[in-house]
Amino acid sequence: MIKSAIVPVAGHGTRLLPATKSQPKEMLPVARKPIVQYVVEELVKNGIEQILFVTGRSKTSIENHFDHDPELARALHASNKHDLLSELDFEEMRTHFFYTRQRLQKGLGDAILCGENFAGEDAFLVALGDSILGLNASSRVVTRMAEIFEAKRASCVIAVEEVPPEETGHYGIVQPEHLDGDAFRVVDLIEKPAPEEAPSNLAIAGRYVFSPLIFDMIRRIQPDKRGEIQITDAIRLLCEEGKRVMAVKLPPGEKRYDIGNFPSYFETFVEFALADPVHGAAFRKVLERLLAGQ
Ligand code: UTP
Repeated sequence: MIKSAIVPVAGHGTRLLPATKSQPKEMLPVARKPIVQYVVEELVKNGIEQILFVTGRSKTSIENHFDHDPELARALHASNKHDLLSELDFEEMRTHFFYTRQRLQKGLGDAILCGENFAGEDAFLVALGDSILGLNASSRVVTRMAEIFEAKRASCVIAVEEVPPEETGHYGIVQPEHLDGDAFRVVDLIEKPAPEEAPSNLAIAGRYVFSPLIFDMIRRIQPDKRGEIQITDAIRLLCEEGKRVMAVKLPPGEKRYDIGNFPSYFETFVEFALADPVHGAAFRKVLERLLAGQ
């Protein structure tokens, strides 16, 4: 069982400016909750017991969000707002939260390296703080990844999802040894390949299980043209050294919602709002009216 997760949330989120000028993109709301709350809820459902957030400047609202707020709780109690109090149930999660800072935003690989002491000698999960898996964070893929990690004695397991072949240029794409069921070995990874150069249409979906071996790989790779240390390069190094890197496909009907750019943020917000148990039906009518141009 994997019990620890590193959630990197230190990126600048430049693609979502000005919304992210003074607040983390991971705290932007999707329907009722901030994005990062969905991520935490998914991890807890999958048995994660301790989470390290790798944060940066202007990210303190993430710590505040997961902290207990006794003053707010007292005020809600006093005014009998029990329904609102229950919306804050997540504060009672038994998960332990830890925080560390990435001082300079030198890429995802560097952010993960900030979790080396936290991970210690054990395998751990990395979950991107700007990606929700499954509608309302319903995904169990992380549990499946942990099973594959142990069964195959892997050094790394990556969650992947099928993307339209013409869109491979937006994603990190894996090269499978051969496709066989929902889990298979990866022999290479390519960052944002043009469709004609892509070895598959299977894109890295924001969840990784690693053995602590990855930290050495991260230290050994060079920064890219933009000065960022890319985790895909470190995983490539694992492949080159003959270590077993596996991929697990998201099950059919399960999607990765990447909130890092406006088109997919808008789409995710609308899809989650439509699924809202209280307001979804009325919102659908509003949307239909707007689309009909009235
Ligand atoms: P992105 O690649 O979307 O990076 O990071 P970004 O820098 O936030 O976004 P843009 O390109 O400027 O719009 C994926 C995840 O990795 C984290 C981000 O916070 C996000 O959750 N990250 C990225 C870090 O923690 N540190 C970094 O140096 C880069």
